[in-house]
Parts: sequence; C-alpha cells; structure tokens
Amino acid sequence: MDTREFELRIGQTIIDGYRTDTARPAVFELLGRQWELLDDVWPPAYSPGGELHAELIPFAAMASFLEMGSGTGIMSVLAALAGCPRVLALDLNPAAVDNTRRNARRHAVADRVEARVSDLYAAVPPGERFDGIYWNPPFLDAPAERLDGSLWHETMFDPGYAKLRRFLGEGADLLTPTGRIYLWFGEALGSPTLIDDLAAAAGLTVRELHRTTMGEVPPALARALPADVTHGDPDARWHLHLLELGSGA
Ligand SMILES: C[S@@+](CC[C@H](N)C(=O)[O-])C[C@H]1O[C@@H](n2cnc3c(N)ncnc32)[C@H](O)[C@@H]1O
Repeated sequence: MDTREFELRIGQTIIDGYRTDTARPAVFELLGRQWELLDDVWPPAYSPGGELHAELIPFAAMASFLEMGSGTGIMSVLAALAGCPRVLALDLNPAAVDNTRRNARRHAVADRVEARVSDLYAAVPPGERFDGIYWNPPFLDAPAERLDGSLWHETMFDPGYAKLRRFLGEGADLLTPTGRIYLWFGEALGSPTLIDDLAAAAGLTVRELHRTTMGEVPPALARALPADVTHGDPDARWHLHLLELGSGA
C-alpha cells in the first residue's frame, strides 16, 4: 500500500476509535489536574502529547508564549501557571478555542490566556513577537483528495506537510531574538529527515529535548499502528519527541 494511503488508514482508525468511545470523559485528569474536554476537540486523555514534558519548556522565563492548535489548551494553561504573563492560544476549530477558554477559567489564568480562532498565524496581532511557540500538530501525511475538510481530518492530517512547513517558516519570523519553537512530533512511516529538512528551510536548528520510544507510546495510538512498525521495540524507527528549534541566537 502507498505510504500516504497507509497514513490515512492509521489516522482514520485513531479518529474512529476516539469518536466511537462511549467512555469519553467530559472531564479528565492529567498532570494532577482536572481538564474539561468538549466534543470534537482532540483528546489528550486519549493520547497525551508534549504537555507530559512541559517542565522542559522554560515558560517562567518567557514574556510571551503562543500555542498553535491549542485543543483543550493544556499547554497554554501550564505556561500561564508557570508564570508566563502573555499566552496566545490559536486553533482552527472554534470548539477548541471554547475548550481552551474553559480550562483557562477553571485554572484561574483567564486573565493571561487569550484564545482565538485562527488558521495558523492569521489571528496574531500585527507586530507581536513570542519567546516560545508550541504545536502538537497533525502528524500524518495523507492524499489531499481523500480528505473531507472536517475538523477531525484537519486535526489528524497534513497533506505534504504544508501546514508544518508554514508553522515553522512563518513562526521563525514571529520569534523574539532568543525565542524558540517547540514541537511535539513523530516522524511517521518513512519521513525520518522531515523535521530537519523543514527546519533547514526555515533557517532553524533542531535539538531533541525528549524522546518517547515506541514501547512507551500510549496504547490507543500503538494499537492503531501496524505490528511491523512497533513490536514494542524501544529502537523501532517510529517514535515521538519534543523538539526545540531556534535560529541559534
Ligand atoms: C493533534 S491536535 C493537538 C491539540 C492540543 N494541542 C493537544 O496537544 O492536545 C492538533 C490541533 O491543531 C489544530 N489545527 C489543525 N490545523 C490547524 C490550522 N491550520 N491552524 C490552527 N490550528 C490547526 C487542530 O484543530 C487541533 O486542535
């Protein structure tokens, strides 16, 4: 099977598994806190991401932080709780923006977290710059003509990694001189140099802050992957990692 068809199948399996899960919680616990989860918002309860390693991101030293595709808004809330005074959370999905606002209120940081509907950086106020930018992006490539434009497909798929390319390229221009981009990503299925290639095109260098090997990947995600990719092998070529990208200043 063609690699992109294969990625489409994996992503659709994950989406279907989540959407048919009748035990989906409206409130879930992660990192010792309770978080609201609205319908049609990516569920960290089901597949947690970079927020598990948030302590590696120096929020307390940041004057401004942007979370792309904030979903439930956990990383935005963690940034504000760590002391960052200005957090801008953006998401294409209006339900995610609502969800982020709810979790900011729940954790008493609504005065520091602003959430906006935005296609990538479209809603960033002119001239604003950030010490940190983070995204847990759609991981999977898939044939554009097979996607239906739904929020779930937007959440899961990035045909040709066009979004990721723009996220890094345009994000590099929105950083303060010492600012950094943080990315939670897994080079799925045959694109091992993807991030290095996109980073080089954006003039950024890459540093790995944390690597999660296949054996540690959440069961819901691991179940959707074929055995020859995983086998619980810690050295399997598929892994997830938290990356830091900067211009070296
Ligand atoms: C994998 S989810 C991660 C959500 C959340 N950050 C988390 O880690 O739980 C990807 C998020 O990116 C958002 N997204 C996808 N395409 C986007 C775009 N063009 N602009 C802004 N957000 C986008 C989706 O709506 C979704 O909330």
